[in-house]
Formats: sequence, C-alpha cells, structure tokens
Amino acid sequence: MARLILDGLSKTYPPSGKTPGKVAVHPARLEIQAGEFLVLVGPSGCGKTTLLRMIAGLEEVSSGSIQIDGREVRGVEPHERDIAMVFQNYALYPHMSVFENMSFGLKLRGVPKEEVRSRVESAAQTLGLLQPDNLLERKPKQLSGGQRQRVALGRAMVRQPKIFLFDEPLSNLDAKMRVEMRAEICRLHRKIGATMIYVTHDQVEAMTMADRIVVMNQGQIQQVGTPQEIYQKPANVFVGQFIGTPPMNILRGSIQQKGRGWEFQETTGAEGMSPFRLNFPAGLQKSLESLLVQEAVLGFRPEAVHLEECAGDGCFDAFVDLAENSGAESTLYLRTSQQRWGVRIPRIWDKSREGQTCRFYLNPSDLLFFDSKTGKLLEKIQAR
Ligand SMILES: Nc1ncnc2c1ncn2[C@@H]1O[C@H](COP(=O)(O)OP(=O)(O)OP(=O)(O)O)[C@@H](O)[C@H]1O
Ligand SMILES: [Mg+2]
Repeated sequence: MARLILDGLSKTYPPSGKTPGKVAVHPARLEIQAGEFLVLVGPSGCGKTTLLRMIAGLEEVSSGSIQIDGREVRGVEPHERDIAMVFQNYALYPHMSVFENMSFGLKLRGVPKEEVRSRVESAAQTLGLLQPDNLLERKPKQLSGGQRQRVALGRAMVRQPKIFLFDEPLSNLDAKMRVEMRAEICRLHRKIGATMIYVTHDQVEAMTMADRIVVMNQGQIQQVGTPQEIYQKPANVFVGQFIGTPPMNILRGSIQQKGRGWEFQETTGAEGMSPFRLNFPAGLQKSLESLLVQEAVLGFRPEAVHLEECAGDGCFDAFVDLAENSGAESTLYLRTSQQRWGVRIPRIWDKSREGQTCRFYLNPSDLLFFDSKTGKLLEKIQAR
C-alpha cells in the first residue's frame, strides 16, 4: 500500500520530423490515497496511458513531481519504484509456460526458489489458474484471452508491489468475460488492499470499479470524485455527457419569466418539431435571473424524466422518435427542435407507440445549469 502524489505533472512530446509537438498531459495535481482504487477515464488520446507510464517510470516527465510515500521518484528506475503495470496486450512471453511467465521477474530479482513457487501458486489459486484445469505448464497460445489476462494479472501480483497500474486490461475480452474479470480485479483489490490505478475508456467500468474517478479530456483533468459525485454533479458538460448511457441530456435555449414562474424554451432548430418547453414553479431562487440575459444550458439525466399524464410545472409533450427495450427497462429517444435525447423508463415500452407525442414529467429540482460559454456547472443556480 502506498500513497501517491502527482504535483504539476505534465508531458509534452517534442516535435519530430513533420509531427508537431504535443501536450499530452497538462500540469496535473492528484493525490491517491494508500489502498485506493482510482480509475482514470476519458476518450481515446486524452493522455491516460501517458500519465500512467510517467508514474511507472516508462515515460520521461516534462515537469512536476511524483512522490510515493513521500519519496520523490523522478529519476528512479522503473524496477526500483515498486510498481507493477498490467497492459492491454498482456505482453506474455510466448515461449515460456504460464509458471515461467509469472515467475520470471521474481527470479531476476533473486527471490529464493521456494518463495517463488509459493507466490506463483498462491496467485494462481486466487485467479483460478489451478482449477478446474491446472494451466501452469501451458504456453500462452494454449490459453483463452481471459486466461492470458489472468496470467498477466498474476505476474503483477506475485511481485507484491506497492502500486498496481492497469492500462485497459480488459479491452481485448468479450463482454461476459469483461464483467467477470472486473469482479475478479475488485476482489483482488479487497483482498490485498494495494493502491491501484486503473485506466479505461469504458465509463461503466469506471463507475462500477472505482473508489474515485478521474475524468480526463484532451490532456486535462476535468473532475475528480466518487462515482456518485461525478454522476450527480458533473463539473461540466463534457463530464455529464461522457459518464452515463445514454449521456446526460444537454439542451440549449433561453429562460423567460412567465406569469409567476419561469419558462425554458429550447433554441429552435429542425422544422416541424415543437421546441422543448418547460415551466418552473414560482418559488425559484433569485439566482436563475442571471440566466435571463444569456443562453441557458440545461442538463438532466435520462432517468429524471417520467412518463406521466400530468399538468402544470415540469410537464411537457415530446415526440417519441425511437424506443429501445432492454428487458427490464426502456430508453425512449425524444425529438424536439434541436436534437434527439434520451429518457429511461423502468418498464417495457409498447413499440407501436413510436412516432407519437407523449406527455412527460421532469422534476425541476433535478435540473442542472451550465455556463453557456465555458460549459462549467453553475453550482449556485437551482430550479428550486
Ligand atoms: N510518442 C509520442 N509522440 C507524440 N505524441 C504522442 C506519443 N505518444 C502519444 N502521443 C499523443 O499523446 C496523446 C495522449 O496519448 P495517450 O496514449 O496517453 O492517450 P490515451 O488516453 O491512453 O488513449 P487511448 O484510450 O487511445 O489509449 C495523444 O494525442 C497521442 O497521439
Ligand atoms: Mg491508452
């Protein structure tokens, strides 16, 4: 278990030939607690692997510091950092057996034979590499993708490192195996309690595995928080739309006073569709007034909308363009003026009602407001 502090850590790849220089990671500050499971998530190219490789010592740092338990490790060789990294492509030696693959690193370090065997067997036991079939003498090519992945995990485990780094370790597996291995890694974390940093671009993996999530975009940390914080209070439009399927609905429009209350109206777009309108109750905070002069950007989760015959504040009509039933629940895609956006209802939807206009209820207190220019969450503005 180790505490890790990144302070002002950044990476700029220098220009080479015709390729211009590239800031892959802007100066970042991050504190990772001992024993924490931290997930780095973000779209392809946002700098996740670069950040991880800097921690591992595989990538030169452009600025900033990396401290492990209070000790600066910039300039310390990768193998002296007491960190193990598990890659997406496993990187197993094809000519070595599973046992040899797992024990190789320990042998190089001069760990006594008996100790090596006992560590390998213990890891193999935990990872199901001994039962139902004993796989220790097989070569990697005689294993399934999931089994290979476990060997790669085992190779990291036997080293008993202070910190585990995972770079998209499950992305080569099929969906079912991914779910199983996800649980396996979480169990492993509970059992050995090591500090783990896990990179993925899969937001479901991030939500289900993390103690805390770091959302990155274009080399910049967008938000750090528990899965719940990130989901309920995204720091900006990007985070709201990156986390959650379907993503957070973001509608742009204007707010006007109407009677004793207020009305949001979506900016008009496509022909023949009525723009989304929503009335808010009169008891609104004064803070909303600041949105009267600028474009208002409204955000809400798909499950905040309910299919309900209602009248008054929070009720609206919308055209159901498409419905997807997934067994226990359905996602309806509504089309208003600008775009198609999602609503999740906890039951099966009658597909024959596609193409109809239905009535919905959205509780105004579930609305978030974002700055129209910067996209940042306007924390002080609430519709109740
Ligand atoms: N050696 C390099 N030289 C120049 N640019 C690089 C180099 N390695 C990576 N980059 C660039 O740095 C940025 C971050 O790359 P990185 O591999 O860290 O992204 P990532 O978040 O891991 O993406 P993915 O999800 O696709 O693995 C990308 O724009 C990439 O093109
Ligand atoms: Mg990567």
